[in-house]
Amino acid sequence: MITLPEHVAIIMDGNGRWARQRGLPRREGHTEGAEAVRRSVRCARRVGVKHLTLFAFSTLNWARPTEEVTALMELLARFLVEERQEMLDNGIRLEAIGELEYLPAPIRALLDQTKADTAGGRDMVLTLAVSYDGRRDLVRAAQRLTALAHRGELLPADVGEVQLAEALSTGSLSAGAMPDVDLLIRTSGERRLSGFLPFEACYAELHFIDTLWPDFGDAEFEEALNDYARRQRRFGLTGEQLSALG
Ligand code: FPP
Repeated sequence: MITLPEHVAIIMDGNGRWARQRGLPRREGHTEGAEAVRRSVRCARRVGVKHLTLFAFSTLNWARPTEEVTALMELLARFLVEERQEMLDNGIRLEAIGELEYLPAPIRALLDQTKADTAGGRDMVLTLAVSYDGRRDLVRAAQRLTALAHRGELLPADVGEVQLAEALSTGSLSAGAMPDVDLLIRTSGERRLSGFLPFEACYAELHFIDTLWPDFGDAEFEEALNDYARRQRRFGLTGEQLSALG
């Protein structure tokens, strides 16, 4: 039995390169990427990961060609419709974070409906980060807190990690706080965080692999979990202190 991360977050990268390598349009890479999303959700659920958070669309992605943005929105919509029953059958609750107000109204409505339909899921939380940027999320959290302080509902001295965490979009999820990210995976050989969960993944173990996202499957997911299990998370303590704690 390996030490399992409670919360896995993934930056799904490399769809475009996957398509280019095959002489295909970029949207074909995203279509295959959506299949990898399905596989990953199943794998996470099967092994017992409790929280899976996927970076599906960054705020910066709005600047991509309209055709590509439309294709990504369509894939998201198709995923929500086609996976609804599987989520219900497997106790998976869907959540979404990001500036959801910028999404096309039908997509937003579908997200809200799927969230409501799956709200009873108790076995895993699947959170999609859509129109998300961690720095903007932090700024919004600061605005929320200063607004509270301005109204006299919060003293500056009372602002701590808990209050900041609650003001983030991950802090307002329907069934309470999401645990910190334990393991953050990024595919495609890039080694950066690109504004994904800067507060929530502060102490996460990072796992970077060269595999392009559409090729990500059970073997790659399980290798990431094994890599995590081999790490010693010390949270500032010494190895000896940790051993003494058992
Ligand atoms: C990065 O690859 C990936 C994205 C910008 C979008 C991720 C979307 C999916 C995996 C499919 C749809 C999502 C769901 C939840 C059904 P890239 O296009 O930046 O690849 P590149 O760096 O090789 O160009």
